[in-house]
Amino acid sequence: MEFKELLMARYATKKFDGTIVDDDKIDQLFDMIRYAPSALNLQPWKVKVVTDVETKKKLSAAAMEQPQINTCSHLLVFCADTDLSGKAQKITKLMNKVGVPEENLKQFTDVMNMFLSNYDNKTGITEAQYNVFIAAITAIYAAKSLGIDSCPMQGFNAEAYSEILDIPESIVPTIIVPIGYPADKQMPKLRFEKEEIFF
Ligand SMILES: Cc1cc2nc3c(=O)[nH]c(=O)nc-3n(C[C@H](O)[C@H](O)[C@H](O)COP(=O)(O)O)c2cc1C
Repeated sequence: MEFKELLMARYATKKFDGTIVDDDKIDQLFDMIRYAPSALNLQPWKVKVVTDVETKKKLSAAAMEQPQINTCSHLLVFCADTDLSGKAQKITKLMNKVGVPEENLKQFTDVMNMFLSNYDNKTGITEAQYNVFIAAITAIYAAKSLGIDSCPMQGFNAEAYSEILDIPESIVPTIIVPIGYPADKQMPKLRFEKEEIFF
């Protein structure tokens, strides 16, 4: 599918038909999500995958009983991993391993240290969350390219999700993406005109 076609065919699915997406497709999807871009390539995300029916029931109650949660195949809970320094160490190690020249590595770590010094605990979460949104949006288009529908959703209680899923404090649920096969129909796309956007 051309990207334009994918863009127009993807829509926020309101209800799924309950069919389970097969493991091979899920594996391809997870692989693609890894390639989402992030600031300084820190990849500050973790994605909790929920398929258990009883857990989904609890999560649905904490998402205003929106029908996507109970009817989807897999619920992906995109979380911000707030350990930016840990991620920085990890990516530096990886760069070392693949043989990035010393000079480039130094340049990178200098920028990284400057970048990290801008963040305290609170702003660090926000920075990680910006990146998590990019991963989630990558996921909805990657899913569509595999014939899987989805809905990005912020209408959920993040604290309740952490509690139900036993997610540690440093990992912050940010946006959820239920995926599966639709039981609804796409509505016409309503978008503002180009003239109103580009200036
Ligand atoms: C950050 C974000 C949060 C959203 N939260 C919800 C939500 O909680 N429930 C829902 O049904 N749709 C949600 N949506 C879907 C939007 O309503 C939908 O993308 C928008 O109306 C455009 O429609 P389309 O995606 O079908 O083109 C969300 C979308 C985004 C990007």
